[in-house]
Order: sequence, then structure tokens, then C-alpha cells
Amino acid sequence: MTQRWLVVRPSEDITVRSEPGTPAGSTGADAPGVAQFHGGLVSGPFTLHDGTAVAIRSIRPDDEPAMVHFHESLSDQSVYLRYFHPLKLGVRVAHERLERICHVDPAHEMVLVAERAGPTGGDIVAVGRLTRQQAGRDAEFAIVVSDAAQGQGLGTEMLTRLVAGGRQAGLARITGEILPENRAMQAVCERIGFTCAYLGTEGLVHAELDLG
Ligand SMILES: CC(C)(COP(=O)(O)OP(=O)(O)OC[C@H]1O[C@@H](n2cnc3c(N)ncnc32)[C@H](O)[C@@H]1OP(=O)(O)O)[C@@H](O)C(=O)NCCC(=O)NCCS
Repeated sequence: MTQRWLVVRPSEDITVRSEPGTPAGSTGADAPGVAQFHGGLVSGPFTLHDGTAVAIRSIRPDDEPAMVHFHESLSDQSVYLRYFHPLKLGVRVAHERLERICHVDPAHEMVLVAERAGPTGGDIVAVGRLTRQQAGRDAEFAIVVSDAAQGQGLGTEMLTRLVAGGRQAGLARITGEILPENRAMQAVCERIGFTCAYLGTEGLVHAELDLG
């Protein structure tokens, strides 16, 4: 069988521009020069290596049913790599939890989803988030791609867009904690320019990107 590979630049279709009507220096967070997150500025189409088209956009309150299906699609291994411990499906899809995740406070977080068109509506195949830390100019990333869509360039694209959104919001640093056995996440981080260092004290790999 011949497999078709598309060469896709990670930053393709990403245009970070200043949003009309956004007051200069308007923050919602407390550090000088820090702006709210605008997921809309890093939204746009992306094509997986296998040719599947997805739309990357901010999560919305009406995504809750699709988020339930997304969680149902994750293997125990993917859940463990994301949360560092087993987390039951019932806990992950609890209404109170998903409601909180789908209602984003742009002063503190940006949540992107990748959506593929499906017969019964849009299927979510990846979720990526940036959460601002107390310091205001630092944020932590977290990403999970559905098992069926892994290894198709989507994790790289989601993190690239989170970084672009973080730059736009004036972040100085983006960090992430990764299990040492999670070579795929470390490969994605290193490709984008993060430095990854094993922290023996915590038993985790610390990924860090300085945005200046
Ligand atoms: C980690 C994850 C987000 C990566 O997303 P993805 O869409 O699979 O990533 P990409 O396809 O963009 O790239 C993965 C890269 O890792 C590489 N990789 C995969 N397994 C690897 C391994 N065992 N060792 C080294 N590199 C590996 C792939 O070869 C690929 O690089 P390539 O494109 O040069 O071939 C995804 O696999 C996932 O959701 N895993 C479960 C949850 C998780 O681990 N989240 C991160 C929590 S910190």
C-alpha cells in the first residue's frame, strides 16, 4: 500500500497579528506587558501527514459532548502519559470538570482543540492548553492527541500554535513537565526549540522555552 505523506511546515497557516480593538497593555493578568490570550489569532486549518484535514480553534462551551467522545477515544497509556497517573473516564468526563474546561478565562488560559469533520458532527482529535502561572509571564503547556491521530504531526502543530499564542500574550517562558518515558513529547518539544532536562528530584523531564 502506498502511503501519502504531506510535508507540512509546523507554523503553516499561523498568523499572529494584533487584534483590532484590543487596547495596548490590556491585561487581565497582573504583570506589565502581559495581555489576555486570544486563541482566535492562532486558529486555522491543518493537514495531518495522512491527508486528514482538521481545524484548530479555541475550545467553546458547546464542545462538551465532543470532549466526552474525545476522552472515550484515549487509551489508558495516553491518559497515563498526560496525567502521570490513571484517571478514570468517569472522572475525566464529569460535567463539572468539562464545563470548567470548556469555559475558558482568557486572562489565565488558552485551550485549543483540533476538530475533524465527522458524520455526526465535529470530532475533537486533540486538546492543547496553556495555563498562566502566578508570575504572570510564565505558562505551562499540556497536550493530548487521540490515539488514532498520534504520529501525524498534530502534537507538533498544537504546541507550535500554543507557543505562538503565548508570544502574542506577552509570555516570557513556557514550561511543561513530561514523564521520562514519553519520548514522543520530548521529541516534539525539542523540535520546537524547548530544552528538556531530567529533574532527578521529581523524576520528571522539565521542558522550557524562553520567549525573551
Ligand atoms: C505526545 C503527543 C502529544 C505527541 O503528539 P503527536 O501528534 O503524536 O506528535 P507528532 O506526530 O507531532 O510528533 C511525534 C514525534 O515523536 C516521535 N516519537 C514518537 N515516539 C517516539 C519515541 N519512542 N522515541 C523518540 N521519538 C518518538 C515521532 O517519531 C515524531 O517525530 P517525527 O515526526 O520526526 O517522526 C501525543 O503522542 C500524545 O497525546 N500522547 C499521549 C498524551 C501525552 O503524552 N501528552 C503529553 C503530556 S506532557
